[in-house]
Amino acid sequence: MSNVLVTGGAGYIGSHACKALRAAGYTPVTYDNLVTGWKDAVKFGPFEEGALSDRARLDEVFAKWQPIAVMHFAALSQVGEAMAKPGLYWRNNVEGSLTLIEAACAAGCLDFVFSSTCATYGEHDNVVLDEHTPQEPLNAYGASKRAVENILRDFEASHGLKSVIFRYFNVAGADPEGEVGEHHRPETHLIPVMLEAVDGKRPGLTVHGTDYDTPDGTCIRDYVHVMDLVEAHVLGLRWLRDGKGSRIFNLGTGRGFSVREVIEAAGQVTNLPVPCTDGPRRAGDATKLVSGSTRASEDLGWEPYRSTMPQMIADAWRWHKDGHYSA
Ligand SMILES: NC(=O)c1ccc[n+]([C@@H]2O[C@H](COP(=O)([O-])OP(=O)(O)OC[C@H]3O[C@@H](n4cnc5c(N)ncnc54)[C@H](O)[C@@H]3O)[C@@H](O)[C@H]2O)c1
Repeated sequence: MSNVLVTGGAGYIGSHACKALRAAGYTPVTYDNLVTGWKDAVKFGPFEEGALSDRARLDEVFAKWQPIAVMHFAALSQVGEAMAKPGLYWRNNVEGSLTLIEAACAAGCLDFVFSSTCATYGEHDNVVLDEHTPQEPLNAYGASKRAVENILRDFEASHGLKSVIFRYFNVAGADPEGEVGEHHRPETHLIPVMLEAVDGKRPGLTVHGTDYDTPDGTCIRDYVHVMDLVEAHVLGLRWLRDGKGSRIFNLGTGRGFSVREVIEAAGQVTNLPVPCTDGPRRAGDATKLVSGSTRASEDLGWEPYRSTMPQMIADAWRWHKDGHYSA
């Protein structure tokens, strides 16, 4: 079986990707330092504990597993933390990725799938965000991801490294079979935070900003189901293995939901009230991030068929009620 090195495989999206890779006939080898991930989430292949910054450990892991490709999910990804501690983000996400990319090139592992983000675009009023939209990130998190995209370009020129870069919009939902799910620490993502509020595990949800230039004053985001998102990664891996070359893809549905619309949908799915209060804007948040690209469908044949708001909330709710990690 072909091994794929999955950095961040103990995290939310990486663990779902490991499941999808396993189902597609690959062996996912998780490389993770568990800074925000969970050992319990590594269920579909071997686990190698290590940090992106540890070049000797990376060399050892590349030599041991001889992966055909890297899927690079490992990163810190909280906008608020990035605003307060930009150095941490540049060191972990950029220096760490650079070390990984150098190790991959040294090992001759030249197919690379990278988790980027729509946060690299920044604020573009009333502009449809596609892969040609200028990248003007509003925070150090988005800036760190844009920097890694640039590093990948440079290493293609120097070493022939081929990359598929996915710029995700907001990822939501959970494995419908309940094997893995979303468990950030701390949790800052709207849907799980909202479900914790519904369930009484936190006093309530704060709506960050109600005076944005949107129909109901709250921010608008494009949500994509994690199972659809990881399916795109398997297609991206095949794209690279077929020698089709480097490519950037937005991963979103093209449909935006305001915070208030998501809250309303959660009330309908759970049939419970969602306790929430209005609060001030959060630094670093863009008004509206919605994908306007169909490239992933056209080139990869990707269809985000599970990415309806009720389905994403229902799958997240099931995981919230029944699933958990303890280590
Ligand atoms: N969740 C989203 O909505 C979203 C949106 C856009 C982009 N992304 C990107 O997707 C990727 C995965 O996000 P997630 O939500 O699964 O986050 P997560 O925190 O659940 O997973 C990240 C994993 O990376 C590991 N990690 C972090 N730094 C590391 C390091 N230096 N060395 C080794 N391991 C390290 C963590 O322990 C964790 O297991 C990230 O790169 C993130 O920026 C996520």
